[in-house]
Amino acid sequence: MRRKYPIVCLLLGLALAALCAARGEVPASAEADLPAGEKYVALTFDDGPNAATTGRLLDGLKERGVRATFFLIGQKIGESPELVVRMAEEGHQIGNHTWSHRKLEGPCAGQVEEEVSRTEEALRDLLGEGEFWLRPPYGYVSEGAEKSFDVPLVRWSVDPRDWESRNAEQSAQAILRDVKPNSIILLHDIYPTSVEAALRVVDRLQEEGYWFVTVEELLCLNGIDAEPGSIYREG
Ligand code: NI
Repeated sequence: MRRKYPIVCLLLGLALAALCAARGEVPASAEADLPAGEKYVALTFDDGPNAATTGRLLDGLKERGVRATFFLIGQKIGESPELVVRMAEEGHQIGNHTWSHRKLEGPCAGQVEEEVSRTEEALRDLLGEGEFWLRPPYGYVSEGAEKSFDVPLVRWSVDPRDWESRNAEQSAQAILRDVKPNSIILLHDIYPTSVEAALRVVDRLQEEGYWFVTVEELLCLNGIDAEPGSIYREG
């Protein structure tokens, strides 16, 4: 009897992997990259794009066959549109981190809405139609306000506080200490130290058998049908 469960899990995993590859904005070449029953984890990068650092990160991720998720600041998109197009072409998920990194709270609901919708428009102008999931700055939305957004919201489960230490080794070690399958890891691709930390983490975790996927893929692989107005922090 005990042998049956791994088989059921394997079949379920295979079906989910195929479904997730078919659903997402995943290039055809990536479909075979989601085998069943593996350890999956999602790297996420906030506050970019940044001309000085994001290209190096994209190079490193490409070399390693890794897809990640980028939550972009709207007012920076126009400074480096080629980086944003490249993210999409290379199979990364692209999300919204507001126009000016404004905390989504307070009485000025119209301004909050504009912070999000203006960024969405900039992404649509560049990439065409798509659903751009939202990471609220500081992970914060007023209680209950998440329901007013028409996309899923993403927090994180592993935070190395890379913006504070600005130290690649320290950030990498903090991630390696806390990571587990289905973690959503928070980093900021605007710091060279964070880019270096991310690539060290990828090298180490790939050796340990981890696979890197987008947040959308991670949720889907766990059978989670992400809903608009709901907040997710791990797979
Ligand atoms: Ni941020």
